[in-house]
Amino acid sequence: MDTDLVVQRADLFKSLFPATDIRYAVKANPAPPVLRALVSAGVGFDVASVAELELCLSCDAQPADIVFSNPIKKVSAIAAAHKLGVTHFTSDSISDVENLAQFAPRSEVSIRMVASGSGAVGPFGNKFGCGPAETVEAVLRAVEVGLRPGIAFHVGSQQNDIDAWRECIVAAAEVSRAVESSGVTIGRLNIGGGFPVSYDRACLELVDIARLVHTLVADLFTVRPQVMVEPGRYLVAPAGIVEAEVVLVSRRPAGTDLRWVFLDVGRYNGLPEVENEAIKYPLSLVRAHSAPTEEVILSGPTCDGDDILYQNARYRLPLDLGPGDRIRIHNTGAYTASYSSVGFNGIPPLQVICVGTHGDAGRPLMTTTGGEPTSDLFLPANGVEL
Ligand SMILES: Cc1ncc(COP(=O)(O)O)c(C=O)c1O
Repeated sequence: MDTDLVVQRADLFKSLFPATDIRYAVKANPAPPVLRALVSAGVGFDVASVAELELCLSCDAQPADIVFSNPIKKVSAIAAAHKLGVTHFTSDSISDVENLAQFAPRSEVSIRMVASGSGAVGPFGNKFGCGPAETVEAVLRAVEVGLRPGIAFHVGSQQNDIDAWRECIVAAAEVSRAVESSGVTIGRLNIGGGFPVSYDRACLELVDIARLVHTLVADLFTVRPQVMVEPGRYLVAPAGIVEAEVVLVSRRPAGTDLRWVFLDVGRYNGLPEVENEAIKYPLSLVRAHSAPTEEVILSGPTCDGDDILYQNARYRLPLDLGPGDRIRIHNTGAYTASYSSVGFNGIPPLQVICVGTHGDAGRPLMTTTGGEPTSDLFLPANGVEL
């Protein structure tokens, strides 16, 4: 992880979302140097558990800059977060709102609305969020039990359709108008994360999302709510590289000429987002190769049949690539190490090495320095040119 690049991304985010509370979603990459870099950039945190909260506090974050955004939480977690000074939560059920009133009295609570998730690589389906009528009910209940109400949503991770933000802000403004008749003002709009990153193709620009959000919030609300954002992927994905080693190259199944390249990193130890080949990472090679390229199937190292990175995306790699060669997988700073299994098949989770101003002093650096690719980038032939 390049902590300086994380700070650059944060600065860019701040410039496009001025007067907005920026709360990094810790789940995307909880490495302490990354958190410290973000504290230095003036960014707060979105935490999903007491452990994430304690981690942020140990990296010098202030409780006032932390939102507990997991709508699913035990009362013990609410009480612990309250004791540690957190006063802002997200909720999507009346029972959780009532728990907050009891265990974190007078807190701010943003009621999460359901989002279709259409256009996202990581939609949330029906797991989270209230419909409009339920949101009105939860907001009114929050006020009744002494909490300060807001509205939240998450458009789905790696969202590439700008209308997803439009639909959610319009829905939130309708709720805001509906509760006005009961004398309630929505003080907060938490628009969550979902800001996309370019992997194998160009994606929606942050500047366009920011412009739309500012316009809609100014136009649709009678009283402008304070806006909060919870970017995860956007701040950290481009700052990370996974360096993998080729374990084996082989042709299979019998009777075919398909070339399989097995890496020592796969779905269970750091690359879960290759599921359904949803995210197609750019690759580069650490040593120079002169042989022609051929289509390959890229696979992970475990004994699980699903541990395959890409068999439909047509990556072409040089024929002289063999065991011991190293491949760099770019844009892997988000949802990689934090998702590694503790040791499925005895393969350890990814080791995270942070470089740059906030990096871990005394830890080994990568085999070659810097985040620049050491060769041309390899992208699937069926992707779109960047
Ligand atoms: C509540 C909440 N906020 C923010 C995020 C960050 O989303 P992203 O990484 O797509 O920006 C997540 C991701 O799961 C989330 O659950």
